[in-house]
Amino acid sequence: MSSVAENLDAYWMPFTANRDFKKKPRVISGAQVHYYTTEDGTRLYDMFSGLWTSGAGHCHPKIVEAVQKQVAKLDYCMSFQVTNNKAIELADRVTHIAPAGINHCFFTNSGSESVDTALKIALGYHRARGEGNRTRLIGRERGYHGVNFGGMSVGGMVPNRKVFSANLIPGVDHIRHTHDVERNAFTRGLPEHGAELADDLERLCGLHDGSNIAAVIVEPVAGSTGVLPPPAGYLKRLREICDRHGILLIFDEVITAFGRLGGPFAADRFDVTPDIITTAKGLTNGVIPMGAVLVSDAVHDAFMQGPEGMVELFHGYTYSGHPVAAAAGLACLDLYKDEGTFEQAASLEQHFEDLLHSFADHKHVIDVRNCGLMGAIELAPRDGAPGARGGEYHKKCFWEENLVTRNGMDVLAFSPFLNSDPDEMQQSFEGVRRVLDSIE
Ligand SMILES: Cc1ncc(COP(=O)(O)O)c(C=O)c1O
Repeated sequence: MSSVAENLDAYWMPFTANRDFKKKPRVISGAQVHYYTTEDGTRLYDMFSGLWTSGAGHCHPKIVEAVQKQVAKLDYCMSFQVTNNKAIELADRVTHIAPAGINHCFFTNSGSESVDTALKIALGYHRARGEGNRTRLIGRERGYHGVNFGGMSVGGMVPNRKVFSANLIPGVDHIRHTHDVERNAFTRGLPEHGAELADDLERLCGLHDGSNIAAVIVEPVAGSTGVLPPPAGYLKRLREICDRHGILLIFDEVITAFGRLGGPFAADRFDVTPDIITTAKGLTNGVIPMGAVLVSDAVHDAFMQGPEGMVELFHGYTYSGHPVAAAAGLACLDLYKDEGTFEQAASLEQHFEDLLHSFADHKHVIDVRNCGLMGAIELAPRDGAPGARGGEYHKKCFWEENLVTRNGMDVLAFSPFLNSDPDEMQQSFEGVRRVLDSIE
């Protein structure tokens, strides 16, 4: 064990079984392109491209250079009442690749902050228009919108909510999730069944009266609860119901934006334009923490009234629009364009899908699903020990196959690099197969 790994006691790790981890820590100390390295020099292939973050590969020289230059030139500048040139440029450039009508950008530092910002903007929007009664927020079961109180409340991950149940924000309801293994198992791409589940929103409008609902937030493809692509037609139906009742539609694109679905935004792929888009991760390729909330003209303009000298939205973060993060974001947008990263991602989809679905007849596998470069293989849980099979898989991949993978209980999730080498991708799945063959 390395010296670093011996001094782990102080470090309380997020979303990790700390005691189990610390018995045999998995510690990364370097990365280049598609591989991590440990202190003893072992190279591990990253099958999750960071945490859905690093689609362009690790330590991309263009991002590294941009960050190094920026930190030496302007390390920080407050973003209240003054701002920096890089934040202005990034807001302009991100909105230029956003869907038509989405022309405004509010910076945050993470996906969780983007979500809570978006919820606050939605509430403020209705109030600014004299509809302050619209306070209800609607999320979806099996949704993940980060860990702050707003996002946790509209989120639908039971373990994340359990301890905080009584303290979640009031006035939140959930529509049902769209995962239907009985009807849709082993679907390649969008499931055929389930568009009608969008009508849950209509039902909630009937219950509360639609005029009391501010916004509905969904991930176009749910990521953290095991990659749940939307049933064909589902998102369009959700949009129609929102339009009928004056409800804002928020797409949480923290995972799906910036190439994961083969284009700038999931909104493009599904041809559904929300009113607000939340982003983070691929905005800076994970290099510097940064998020952005992209907002339609209608929503933004509703705030721009009253005395001009007054703050329109009492919200913001010390690090909103951080110049070094913004420089990383600008370098990302450059390389996404210059290297054709989104197109490359799209060209890899079929190969990825074929590799995933080659596990369909494996003895432990009960479902395989995918959309863009998001994919999941779901294992049957062991009798009386849900999650054990997935946990064992993760460790064996790391220690025996030099693969960094991710599992949520018994769902194995995959987030390949947007610029993956097809052979490396294939070899990594061969390692996954060896591990699955070896576990009971
Ligand atoms: C859809 C979605 N929203 C929000 C978040 C939270 O982002 P962060 O961990 O940066 O706060 C995530 C993180 O994975 C996410 O997938």
